[in-house]
Amino acid sequence: MKVLVTGGAGYIGSHTCLELLQAGHEVVVVDNLRNADRQALTRVMELAGRELAFYQFDLRDEEQLARVFYAHRMDSVIHFAGLKAVGESVSIPLEYYANNLGCTLALCRQMAAHGVHDVIFSSSATVYEQGNRMPLREEARLGCTNPYGWTKFMGEQILRDAAAADSRLSVVLLRYFNPIGAHPSGRIGEDPAGIPNNLLPYITQTALGRLERLTVHGDDYDTPDGTGVRDYIHVVDLAQGHLKALDYAAAHRGAVAINLGTGQGYSVLDILHAFEKVNRVKVPYVVGPRRPGDIATVYADPGLARELLGWQARLGIEDMCRDAWRWQKNNPQGYRGA
Ligand code: NAD
Ligand code: UD1
Repeated sequence: MKVLVTGGAGYIGSHTCLELLQAGHEVVVVDNLRNADRQALTRVMELAGRELAFYQFDLRDEEQLARVFYAHRMDSVIHFAGLKAVGESVSIPLEYYANNLGCTLALCRQMAAHGVHDVIFSSSATVYEQGNRMPLREEARLGCTNPYGWTKFMGEQILRDAAAADSRLSVVLLRYFNPIGAHPSGRIGEDPAGIPNNLLPYITQTALGRLERLTVHGDDYDTPDGTGVRDYIHVVDLAQGHLKALDYAAAHRGAVAINLGTGQGYSVLDILHAFEKVNRVKVPYVVGPRRPGDIATVYADPGLARELLGWQARLGIEDMCRDAWRWQKNNPQGYRGA
C-alpha cells in the first residue's frame, strides 16, 4: 500500500513509519516539524534500509497538500498530526482547536478531492468521561476535561459525520492508552521538548541525572499501592496496531472506534520499580500531592482490537522500561544531540 502519514516524524509516527517500511509499504510523510526532528526520519530510513518521501509543511496548507496527493496515488492515510500537551492546551486552547481540527478538516477535504477513502485517526483514552467503570469498553460514556481532549473528541465526530455522508469512506478511530518505550534499536524514541509531563520520560531523564528526582503525584488513591494506575503500551505494539487497522479499513466501510491498550493496569510505583530492576539504575523520588485532573485508575478492555483487527499487545512493562532507557541512554539530549 502507499500510505500518507501525517505527523510521521513524531514519536508514534516515526515508529509506525518504520513498521510500514519493514512490512513493504510505501510511505509519504507530511510534518511541519513543530514537535519533531528530521533526524527521526533519517534514522527510520537507516533502520528500514529503505527510503520514504518527506514533505515539510503545515497540513492545513491545502495547496501543498493537494500537490502531495497529485504526486502520489495514496491508498490510505494515517493521521497523527496534532498538538498533544494537555497543560499547554489549557493555556492556548484556540491554537489547539485551530491546529488539530484544521488539520483534520484539510485532510478530509483533500482525501475527498483525490478519491482516497481510508483513514486511521489517532484518538486517545482521554475522550472517555471520568467515572466510567474499568476496564473501558468503546461504548463507555465520552466527555473531556481539557481542550486537547475535546480536539480528539471533535476529530472523531468530524470523521464519523464524513463517513455517514459518504458510504465509500472507511474510518478507524484508534483510542490509545499510555504509549511508552522506544524501538529496541535505541535509535528512535520519545523526545519531549522541555521538562516532560508524562511519567516515562520524567523517569528516564531522572535516571540520567538531567532531573533531580521524580515527584509521584499522590499516593492516597484507592489503588493497591495508593499511586495512579494506567494502561501502558509499548510504542512498537501500538505502531503495529496501525498496520492491522489499515488492513481492516481496506476491507470495511463506515466508522469504528477501537481501543489500543494492553488491558493491564500498572501503578506509578510498579513502573518505577520495574524500571530500576531491569535497568539496574536508581531513580530518586518523593511523593507529592495529587496532580489536578488526574484520576485513580484507567485501563482498556482491548477485546474489540483482538476481535476486529486480530491485534493484541505482546510486550510487557519490562520491555517498555528497558527500551525507553536504551533510547534515553544512547541519546541523552534526544535528537538534538545528534
Ligand atoms: P508528536 O508530537 O510526537 O507527533 C505529532 C506530530 O505532528 C509532530 O511530529 C508534529 O510536528 C506534527 N504536527 C503537529 N501539528 C502539525 C501541523 N499543523 N502540520 C503538520 N504536522 C503537524 O506526538 P505523538 O505522541 O507521536 O502523538 C501522535 C498522535 O497521537 C497525536 O495526534 C496525539 O494527540 C495522539 N495521541 C498521543 C498519545 C501519547 O501519549 N503520545 C496518546 C493518545 C493520543
Ligand atoms: C496523560 C494525559 C492524557 C494523554 C496521556 C497519554 C494528562 C492529564 N493526561 O495521561 O491526555 O492521553 O497522557 O500520553 O496529562 N505521574 C507522576 N509523576 C510525574 C508524571 C506522572 O506520578 O512526574 C503519574 C500520574 O499522576 C499518572 C501516571 O503517572 O498517575 C501517568 O501520567 P502521564 O504519563 O502524565 O499520563 P496520564 O496522566 O495517564
